[in-house]
Amino acid sequence: MSAKVKTVYRCTECGAEHPKWAGRCDVCGEWNTLVEETAARLPAGNAGAARRQGGAAALGVGGSVVATATLRDVRGSEERRLRTAINEFDFVLGGGIVPGSMILIGGEPGIGKSTLLLQVAGALQASGQRVLYVSGEESPLQVKLRADRLSPAAADVELLTETLLETVLATAAGMEPAVMIVDSIQTIFTADLEGAPGNVGQVRECAARLMRFAKESGTAVFVVGHVTKGGGIAGPKTLEHIVDTVLYFEGEGSLDHRVLRATKNRFGGVDEIGVFRMTEAGLIPIENPSELFLGDRDHVASGSAVTALMEGTRPLLVEIQALAAKAGFGTPQRVSTGFDSRRLALLLAVLDKRAGLPFAQLDVFVNVVGGVRLHEPAGDLAVAAALASSVYDRALPAHALFLGEVGLGGEIRPVSQSERRLAEGAKMGLTTVYLAERGVPKRLRDVNAIGVRTISDVFRHLFER
Ligand code: TYD
Ligand code: MG
Repeated sequence: MSAKVKTVYRCTECGAEHPKWAGRCDVCGEWNTLVEETAARLPAGNAGAARRQGGAAALGVGGSVVATATLRDVRGSEERRLRTAINEFDFVLGGGIVPGSMILIGGEPGIGKSTLLLQVAGALQASGQRVLYVSGEESPLQVKLRADRLSPAAADVELLTETLLETVLATAAGMEPAVMIVDSIQTIFTADLEGAPGNVGQVRECAARLMRFAKESGTAVFVVGHVTKGGGIAGPKTLEHIVDTVLYFEGEGSLDHRVLRATKNRFGGVDEIGVFRMTEAGLIPIENPSELFLGDRDHVASGSAVTALMEGTRPLLVEIQALAAKAGFGTPQRVSTGFDSRRLALLLAVLDKRAGLPFAQLDVFVNVVGGVRLHEPAGDLAVAAALASSVYDRALPAHALFLGEVGLGGEIRPVSQSERRLAEGAKMGLTTVYLAERGVPKRLRDVNAIGVRTISDVFRHLFER
């Protein structure tokens, strides 16, 4: 008897199922995202059927009656988290790996996902935890060559080069590792579905079964997901919904630092980051990222200002560079990297109107150093100060920190968590802080806080010396 093969069309963005093809997914509204998928269901008679007995069968619901337990009786605790000794990695996860959880690590090809996970595997193995590393992308020799560059512990990791999900699951069930790493989800496929590995249906089904395996066995499962051009993981939304935790590994191609960021975490905070440097011998955690992004503050040119961003619960100091130069013919250019271009347009208008800085004839370039994104309005004041510094061609005080949102009236507004930001600044020797008058913290140590009300207040302070 052959199972009836049914065709559905699935949206690669949101995973919604459609009986017919359409140009636009009516669930998420994206265009050209529906792909054909064959949904072959297993013929009845295996696995589930054995359980489908007893009272429930009489009702025709096909389930079985199981005992429930109160939450008090559920065993397990936070303390059971596995630690890798790679502190930044444990931190981003919320304090280590939760047994039985499933974690997706997304990132562009070549960013270092396999390297990071092989190091994690080695560290766990060294602490006496069994790890199974499943590679569907590389040969055993390729993985071994990578391991040779990393810590010696990586050599003890058990490797399975396999792409068939059923084999992966059977092997893992026999071995009972504490952690299984599947590199990558796009190369794994199940024999129960037609369609090539990497197709949305395959990715979803394999992820769902790996998730079930994690929950039933207590093995923590990491899956690697390559990010597509649009910035999503194949069938991104659905994959992100399935797993417990989503980590993104990011970095600028030309720079050697990498940022690991939690964007979803059922067992910890989101937006926490860990910073690493890619070296000849793998990834090295950077304990003090501010140092990396800040550079040397003793010789500062005009157009440079520093602010403190909150990345999750941790402050991060970043340098903003601005350059205002005489424009050629035509519309002056506005180019910003790491800072929203509409926000820049707004700031330029405010600076023009409220502080009389003439940008109409100037090309303006703004760059947040180190590939960091200035995602908070708290960085406004630093951008404004950098712009003014460039226009006047006068360097800002070298050890100053700028914190504040700039309003349309040119007023400076206080920022959240200013104590933490100030403390990070002080740690790095930034002892003069410009911030909203209303936001000056009561108790201040080692810091000279200059409370300001408006953008012209700030400029008077800075340039009328
Ligand atoms: P990889 O982990 O293979 O990336 P991904 O799995 O995300 O595709 O890392 C690829 C890059 O990292 C590659 O360009 C080589 C570099 N690399 C190092 O610089 N040092 C190392 O020790 C290792 C293992 C890789
Ligand atoms: Mg890889």
